[in-house]
Amino acid sequence: MQKPLNFEELTPDEMLNASRDFRKKISRRRSVRHFSDRAVDREIIENAIKSAGSAPSGANKQPWHFAVAENPDIKKNIRKAAEAEERDFYHGRAPQSWLDDLKVFETDENKPFLETAPYLVAVFLQRNSIDADGGKHKNYYMPESVGIATGMLITALHLSGLATLTHTPSPMKFLNEIFDRPSNEKPFMLIVTGYPTKNVTVPDIERKPFQEISTFF
Ligand SMILES: Cc1cc2nc3c(=O)[nH]c(=O)nc-3n(C[C@H](O)[C@H](O)[C@H](O)COP(=O)(O)O)c2cc1C
Repeated sequence: MQKPLNFEELTPDEMLNASRDFRKKISRRRSVRHFSDRAVDREIIENAIKSAGSAPSGANKQPWHFAVAENPDIKKNIRKAAEAEERDFYHGRAPQSWLDDLKVFETDENKPFLETAPYLVAVFLQRNSIDADGGKHKNYYMPESVGIATGMLITALHLSGLATLTHTPSPMKFLNEIFDRPSNEKPFMLIVTGYPTKNVTVPDIERKPFQEISTFF
């Protein structure tokens, strides 16, 4: 069955302006590693998740789940588990070349923002879908689909006026336990969001030039 597309046609000028405006706004997005404990309206987080949930996905399987920590005890547990993994990573597991690549970000095993930020959104990838009768069904292109949805989540949060951090304390299996998620779900990313602290700084990094990241034929 088909239905009409709800397509909003813009004039050529409106299109150009919209593309320039979006580019200007999105180019201000940076990963922030110092968050304030200032409260954020929960509807903003809900709307961002609804936006992410509208992402395209392989055969529309929507192979994602977003588990949100706002409770201080849950955030404390996440911090504790993440810091334990990060300690292993920074003091043993990570090869020197990886640690060298991370120097510019001045990161270490301490993650206080996991407690100060008002919301932590754990994105889970569903390896398969389970129907109401407990039957297992195949999902398709899960990393691609969940990657797109996570990008839309970050974009929605940014355009709503919030800062974000894409955090991947590896391995993230502890998130299944904390959020009571089933074993067919793989923790994909932890998105930290809230207001940045006043006068926060970010690493002075460069983007690859347009000519390098694109080729037109
Ligand atoms: C998949 C992925 C995992 C990341 N994991 C971490 C992380 O665990 N800790 C961290 O501080 N930053 C992490 N980052 C943030 C990157 O360091 C950051 O996006 C990159 O340096 C570019 O900086 P920007 O986001 O400010 O533009 C991650 C980013 C991505 C996309």
